[in-house]
Amino acid sequence: MTRRIKFTLGAIAAVVLSTAAFASEVAPDAVEYGDEGVMTSLTGVAGDPAAGAETFKSRKLGNCLACHANPDMAGEQFHGDVGPSLEGVADRWEEPMLRAIVANSKQIFTDETIMPGFYSLEVGKHVRESLVGETILTAQQVEDVVAYLGTLKE
Ligand code: HEC
Repeated sequence: MTRRIKFTLGAIAAVVLSTAAFASEVAPDAVEYGDEGVMTSLTGVAGDPAAGAETFKSRKLGNCLACHANPDMAGEQFHGDVGPSLEGVADRWEEPMLRAIVANSKQIFTDETIMPGFYSLEVGKHVRESLVGETILTAQQVEDVVAYLGTLKE
């Protein structure tokens, strides 16, 4: 009995804590895309480039190498060539634009782009029901990837 009560209190505390952690997160449908991209961080927490590199190359998360070559990751196998090489990408785009491209490339390129919107609810018509309402990456994972892209200078 006592254990059960403790468990319940613990669960409530966990919910309260996680709500607090996400309080300043911008929801996917509330991201503001302007001419210069997305000006403000999606989380208010600085991105971690090392974590971003992991998300970038993870086949289950960013899977960016499926479409982009990235000489900074020469040790990884199978770099795709569907999209442009990301060599020196931080010299071409400022951080707000990189954030916009990763969060929802359709806002920057065209609706026809095959690059997925990683922080968008416009996932397409034929998705598994379990994916409806989900984004591919979390807001913090986007910030981490953007921080990593910021290191790709020539
Ligand atoms: C399914 C293929 C695909 C995947 C996966 C993909 N991209 Fe792209 N990406 C593209 C294409 C294609 C373009 C070029 C824009 C266009 O013509 O649609 C592009 C453009 C870009 C650009 C602009 C590059 C430039 O030099 O102008 C950046 C930055 C970028 N992608 C980052 C990423 C990151 C980071 C990931 C992983 C989180 C990713 N992409 C995953 C296909 C992809």
